[in-house]
Amino acid sequence: MLAILVLCVVISCISGDPVLVPYSDYVRPIKLRQAEKEQQQDFTKIPGLPGVDYPIYHSVPETSFSCHHVPALPGMYANVETGCQAYHVCHDGREGHQGASFLCTNGTLFNQAEFACDWWYNVNCHDAINLYRLNLDPLKNPYFPKPKPEDQYEINH
Ligand SMILES: *[C@@H]1O[C@H](CO)[C@@H](O)[C@H](O)[C@H]1NC(C)=O
Repeated sequence: MLAILVLCVVISCISGDPVLVPYSDYVRPIKLRQAEKEQQQDFTKIPGLPGVDYPIYHSVPETSFSCHHVPALPGMYANVETGCQAYHVCHDGREGHQGASFLCTNGTLFNQAEFACDWWYNVNCHDAINLYRLNLDPLKNPYFPKPKPEDQYEINH
C-alpha cells in the first residue's frame, strides 16, 4: 500500500503536472500583497503622527518661493511653506524662478543647517530662512566648490 502511494507521488513529480494547487490560485494573492506594499509607506516606523507632526506631501505644491530672493546662486533652500518637506536648488534660472524642486521622504524635512533631509524632530523649520545665508559658505554649500571673490567678501564681513 505504502509502495503504491510513493510510486504515485514519484510519477506525478516526473510527469511535472501540478498536483494540488492550480497555478493561478496561489500566484494571485502574492501579486496583490506586493502591490499593496508599494502603495503604503510604513508610518509605524516613524515617530509622531503623519500629517500632524510632519507633512506628507505627494508632490511639491504651489508656493510663493522664489530663487530671486535668495542670497547665493547656486544654492539649496528649504521651502518653509511646506513645513520644509520641499526644498529648491536655485541655479542659473534654466529651471524657472523656483529652480529644481524636490521633496524629502515622509518623516524627514530639509535641514537648512546640514543641507540634507533629516528626521523631522531634528529640524526647526522656523530657523530655515535665517539659515539661507549658509549658502554663502563654500564649505556648506555643496554647489559651491570654489569661492568667488565677491562671495568671500560677504563671508568675511
Ligand atoms: C507621503 O505619504 C503620503 C500618504 O501615504 C503619500 O501620498 C506621499 O506620496 C508620500 N510622500 C512621499 C514624498 O513619499
